[in-house]
Amino acid sequence: MNRSVFLLAALVSLASLAPAAQAKAAPTFTKDIAPILFAHCAACHRPGEVGPFSLLTYEEARKRAKTVGAAVEKRLMPPWKAAPDLVAYHDNPRLSDGQIALIKEWAANGAPEGNRADLLPAPKFTAGWTLGEPDLVLQADREFTLEAEGRDVYQCFVIPTKFAEDRFISVMEVRPGNRRVVHHVVAFTDTTGKGRERDEATPETGYRTFGGPGVPGAQWLEGWAPGKNPRHLPAGHGLLVPKGADIILQVHYNKTGKVETDHTKIGFHFCKQPVDKRVRVHTHAFPGLNIQPGDANYAVTNSYTVPANVTVLAVWPHMHLIGRAMTVEATLPNGNKQPMVTVPDWDFNWQFGYHFKEPLKFPGGTKIQLTAHYDNSENNPANPSRPPKAVRWGEQTTDEMCIAFYAYTVDTEHLTQGIAAGGMNRGRDREAIQALKPFDKDGDGKLNDAERAEAVKAFQERFGSKQKK
Ligand code: HEC
Repeated sequence: MNRSVFLLAALVSLASLAPAAQAKAAPTFTKDIAPILFAHCAACHRPGEVGPFSLLTYEEARKRAKTVGAAVEKRLMPPWKAAPDLVAYHDNPRLSDGQIALIKEWAANGAPEGNRADLLPAPKFTAGWTLGEPDLVLQADREFTLEAEGRDVYQCFVIPTKFAEDRFISVMEVRPGNRRVVHHVVAFTDTTGKGRERDEATPETGYRTFGGPGVPGAQWLEGWAPGKNPRHLPAGHGLLVPKGADIILQVHYNKTGKVETDHTKIGFHFCKQPVDKRVRVHTHAFPGLNIQPGDANYAVTNSYTVPANVTVLAVWPHMHLIGRAMTVEATLPNGNKQPMVTVPDWDFNWQFGYHFKEPLKFPGGTKIQLTAHYDNSENNPANPSRPPKAVRWGEQTTDEMCIAFYAYTVDTEHLTQGIAAGGMNRGRDREAIQALKPFDKDGDGKLNDAERAEAVKAFQERFGSKQKK
């Protein structure tokens, strides 16, 4: 073969390769994109759901192909804030790098439809309760009316359970009344009666707070956000709803530009088997926040030592608007590190509980370290104060919080054998009682509102600036 014939042959074979490779790669809606949208997006992006538009049909997806590509590339969607690969969680909707590349390529190619015969049927969603009719359904005394415009609303509905004895539930399911406006829901138990007092002080059903129930002593029970599948606790495990408790149901509402109504329901499934393990929720909080205006990287680190052998089922980080990142990591007594969660790009709108696929075993003496960062500068678009002002712990939109909630069981506890255990709070409660004694001015063993305000102020002064790095 002379040289020019060889070159010609090479060119011919290259030319014939090129179109074949291209044809193979081009992704289409029906074949490649619809299955991803159905599995990862449709739970929220379908008619009547919390997503601002539907992504169920080709027409709807084509119109938004560019924004969809951008939202998945930045990993804004699907909303899920925990860093991957540290620990395996249940219900993680995250897209793979390959899926993101497909969506981007499809959008860049002009969002072709492809062959209609390739299209899978659209997913079916259960209309009723996912886990079947609950044993008890609770809702606020009347429907709530949400204004058309303005800021998001956090409404706390107080619902009496009237339980004559302590009850254990194995799951709480949530059915939002109006999915266009219900962004997420958190339920607390309240045995103090303070939630009722706050409710009765307002003419509307429920009362407004931001981020939490606004009632000291109310206990976190369960949280829900769209896309979360209800899941029964393992057999023999239960969440306690104490005798006589009220449920404070806090609903975060988005507004739609129209007046809307909602009457969200929760459903309890009681434990059918004897409960051996009480699932408790520990609040690991750092209330001594003191974040100066303009400080773009205020950091706190706080550690908590686990007093007994425990098994941790889930973690929920909680901050308000200027929170930027949180990491929770445990160091076992043997020195091994166990990551629990890292939220590198905190978004107040998407607070999830992260449920470990394999619950974490922590021997007594394990140290859990919580590290949080806040940006109180003008450059933080989420900063609610313009110009920025000093920010401390509190319940208002402009205040901050620093909490990691841990759902756990105590290993030595076997209620079926009559062996009860104290919770993680026990040792800490004793310390707290000692530390708070000087503020109990009238010596009645309790802090009234004025005494509590003094104590909070003193603690903030003591810890607030020391923690800054
Ligand atoms: C858990 C519910 C939920 C899931 C799952 C979800 N979205 Fe969204 N999406 C929303 C909500 C709510 C908004 C409105 C903005 C907000 O609140 O962040 C939104 C907004 C968007 C936007 C507009 C963003 C912008 O820049 O304006 C796009 C695009 C989008 N979603 C695409 C997707 C895609 C693609 C998926 C799946 C890969 C997905 N979403 C999964 C709830 C969800």
